[in-house]
Order: sequence, then C-alpha cells, then structure tokens
Amino acid sequence: MKLRGWFIALLMVCSLTPLAIAQSNLDAATNEQYVPRLGDIMNAIQSRHVKLWFAGKSLNWELADYELRQLKGGLLEAAVLYPGIPVTNVTTMTRPVQAIADTIEARDAKRFAKAVGELTEGCNACHQSMGRGYIVMRVPTEQPFSNQLFPPQGKQ
Ligand code: HEC
Repeated sequence: MKLRGWFIALLMVCSLTPLAIAQSNLDAATNEQYVPRLGDIMNAIQSRHVKLWFAGKSLNWELADYELRQLKGGLLEAAVLYPGIPVTNVTTMTRPVQAIADTIEARDAKRFAKAVGELTEGCNACHQSMGRGYIVMRVPTEQPFSNQLFPPQGKQ
C-alpha cells in the first residue's frame, strides 16, 4: 500500500505552478486514524470540480490553479486510501489534470473548457468501470456556491 501510494504520487506529480502559500503550513496538526469515506472524498472532489470550472470561466487563474491542486489531492487520497481502486483508473486522470494545468498556465479559456470536459469524461470512465455508472458527472452549468466570489478581486 505504501509502495502503491508512492507509485501513484509519482505518476500524478505534474509541473503545476507553485502556490503562493506553502501548503505544508496548512497540514493537519495530528496524524490520527481518521480515514475519510470514499464517497466523502468524492463529494469534496465534486466541489473542486465545480469551483475549478467557475474559476476558469471567470478567468481567475490563481483560484483555478488552487482548485485543481485540491482536486488532484483528492484523487491521490482516494487512490492511496482505497487500494480497491485500480491504479490505472487514477493514473489515466494524470493526462487531463496536466492538460488543465497547462491551460491555466497559458491562461487559455478555450482550451481550459475542453480540458475540463476531458477530465469529466475521466470521472465517468472510472465510475463506470467500478460499478458506479449511475454517478454521472458533467461540466457544471450553474454556480451553486453563492457564498463565494469567483472573479478575481481587486486586481485586473
Ligand atoms: C479512480 C476512480 C474514480 C475517479 C477517477 C473518480 N471517481 Fe468519483 N467515485 C468513485 C467511486 C468508486 C465512487 C463510489 C464511492 C462509494 O461507493 O462509496 C465515486 C463516487 C463519486 C460521487 C458520489 C459521492 C456521493 O456519495 O454522493 C461523486 C459526486 C463523484 N464520485 C465525483 C467525481 C468527480 C467529479 C470525479 C472527477 C473529477 C471523480 N468522481 C473521479 C471513483 C472515482
């Protein structure tokens, strides 16, 4: 399981632009045995998927970069904590994740939209292959988080 985790982590490492705040400052204080349920990890991934989309759509590339990292972290967590998930189901997500990272870096809204579509197909491919074909994701049409601003604030 340790080895598997490292293997997946290695494959999932993409050259995302560095975050302004070091993530290590935000690590949990303890490392106790709380193991999130897979459905809960997926629910978090679902939020990141929505927020990623609306950040990119609002040309808020900094936020999009952040949400993509969170989404990637969720996929990694799922793969490491749930050995029943086939490794290849996770590693095939590397390509669309990297494609999105590239479009964020290039600030290319058109290619961003296409890449998020491909990522979404990857979500569904895994759901189908794991007997969860009834969980169908799509690129979001409405922003459900009315308590968060997606356009960049204060600078343009
Ligand atoms: C490697 C496989 C895999 C990938 C990739 C994957 N999922 Fe999942 N997802 C699952 C499995 C397995 C479940 C069912 C979990 C369970 O039965 O407890 C699930 C469940 C879900 C659920 C239902 C959660 C709930 O309890 O209501 C959502 C929403 C979801 N995934 C979203 C996504 C999104 C969005 C992506 C892509 C960004 C994604 N998933 C990618 C395997 C995957």
